[in-house]
Amino acid sequence: MCGILGILSSQSVSENLLPEKLLEGLSRLEYRGYDSAGIATVHDSKIDRRRAAGKLKNLKALVNDNPLKGTIGIGHTRWATHGAANITNAHPHSSPDVAVVHNGIIENFSVLKQSLQAKGVTFESETDTEVVVHLIADFLKNKLSPLQAVQQTLQQLQGAFALVILFRDYPSLMIATRRGSPLVVGCHQDELFVASDALALVGWVRQLCYLDEGDVAVLEKTETGLSTHLYNSDAQPVERIWRPSQLSAAAVTKADYSHFMLKEIFEQPAVLSDSIQSLIGVEGTAIDLPDLKLDPGSISQVFIIACGTSYYAGLVAKYWFEKYFQVPTQVEIASEFRYRQPCLDKKALYLFLSQSGETIDTLAALSLVKQNNCKTLAIVNVPESSIARQSDQVFHTLAGPEIGVASTKAFTAQLVNLLGLGLYLKGDHNQDLCQELRLLPRLVSEVLNDQSTYQHVSLKLAQAQHALYLGRGLQYPIALEGALKLKELSYIHAEGYAAGELKHGPIALIDGQMPVVVLAPYDEWFEKTLSNMQEVLARNAQVIILTDEIGAEHVHRQVTNKSTLEMIVLPRVASLTSPFVYTVAVQLLAYYAALHKGTDIDQPRNLAKSVTVE
Ligand code: G6P
Repeated sequence: MCGILGILSSQSVSENLLPEKLLEGLSRLEYRGYDSAGIATVHDSKIDRRRAAGKLKNLKALVNDNPLKGTIGIGHTRWATHGAANITNAHPHSSPDVAVVHNGIIENFSVLKQSLQAKGVTFESETDTEVVVHLIADFLKNKLSPLQAVQQTLQQLQGAFALVILFRDYPSLMIATRRGSPLVVGCHQDELFVASDALALVGWVRQLCYLDEGDVAVLEKTETGLSTHLYNSDAQPVERIWRPSQLSAAAVTKADYSHFMLKEIFEQPAVLSDSIQSLIGVEGTAIDLPDLKLDPGSISQVFIIACGTSYYAGLVAKYWFEKYFQVPTQVEIASEFRYRQPCLDKKALYLFLSQSGETIDTLAALSLVKQNNCKTLAIVNVPESSIARQSDQVFHTLAGPEIGVASTKAFTAQLVNLLGLGLYLKGDHNQDLCQELRLLPRLVSEVLNDQSTYQHVSLKLAQAQHALYLGRGLQYPIALEGALKLKELSYIHAEGYAAGELKHGPIALIDGQMPVVVLAPYDEWFEKTLSNMQEVLARNAQVIILTDEIGAEHVHRQVTNKSTLEMIVLPRVASLTSPFVYTVAVQLLAYYAALHKGTDIDQPRNLAKSVTVE
């Protein structure tokens, strides 16, 4: 969703450079999803802004035609919530005295707006953000210092947000604050930075400091140099830990790939290999999770709580945990979990799955569970994220930064951790499974070797308006994930179904135009899924079956009408670990369908990588 960047440079940095740098930093935040962008600086005793609707290239063109200068500036990529994605609603919002960029939502903005309007303040935008500008400006008029004005304003705001503020009359001062939305401060010899996401600062900073909930950071340039002072939510000065930045520049480039998504799909063998090695070592025959402090014998059941693709990883885990490890497991959509006031079980393990670690609904569910003193564990891909910081324990996935909005390698990395956790809870030293796990990077590489098949077969999907994905058992969640990937990337309406549900409704949709992707490794569910495939073939559906060599033989023998059938033959894999192989196949189908359609694969319309508003 929205992205924030602030830069304060020392005098030695040219004032022409900062706007360029703001734009470069914003381009690193594009992956979060946005629909307008803007930057502002303080220069020659005034706040100067440039804002544009649509992609960053529009803002860059504007800045090129009408440059701005400064050694202090803020930038923003906006994912519209309150008000259309136009220039007027784009950030930074500003009065003559104050400019603000904002992530999140000011929930009580309407009441605040009315009281400001009653004082004669006029608003130019429909956003919730603009109240922050006018509140701060009002406090400044009443002779409060910038820090006091921000602190007083914060007392009036409700909601989850991150803010960065510039002041016309204090051209060497930037104030940043967070409540519920992440912010990180970075420092370098000649510059201070603040960003909603450390990825914006890759290569620019050596040290990072993640703000705590309610913190206010005062970034300042004085005669003696640059300084950062932090205050907690009680306005008391605090120290926070500065850590060396771990991110490499390679993480934010596409290398030779046409899209980040394709690069990330291709990174999966390496991610799997690293993740599996961290669980079982190179030669190990048992799962080793020394950092996890859980007593498996005392856990009555597991609740997995997540959104989107992470939720589907949770559904795969439910099959693993219950069928293979005999651990009772519930999977919950985070956005609904708290609404039904769940009866919380003190003996249960509450497991929060999130790639970003910032998804607001997952965070809210975590906070509910923590208030009730239940055991929490997070599986996250971003180590310093809010979910990682707030749960009792964390089991990090090793996917590395994921830039493509549609999750790929983070999903398969989540699956490895979930399988490891299941084995740990079962207390099982399963040598065979360790062997199966070790095979996965090679099997996934084999899938990736065969791009032309996916390019060709996905045409069937690209030409359709709708598609169905069917799977049974462990392939059911992968059918859901495959359908989600297709709809996210190509805007084709796609639904995943448990194959057994076909006759309870979806079969009514089948006609000669409908593609049906059938996930059917040759396993205990194969024959039943094949029957379902026959039922849709009998109704002339355009079927794409994903199976293995043995499954393919059965299809050849049993299916007579193959005129509307395409087959993709995947490597033979153990049933338990089949989700990894079939996931990569449905990722490729979705990727190439989107490529045929010419959609924006890395930043699909309307989507955000990290959903930080409800
Ligand atoms: C958004 C992203 C998805 C992601 C979901 C959950 O919808 O576009 O790719 O699966 O959020 O995000 P999380 O970071 O909590 O896994």
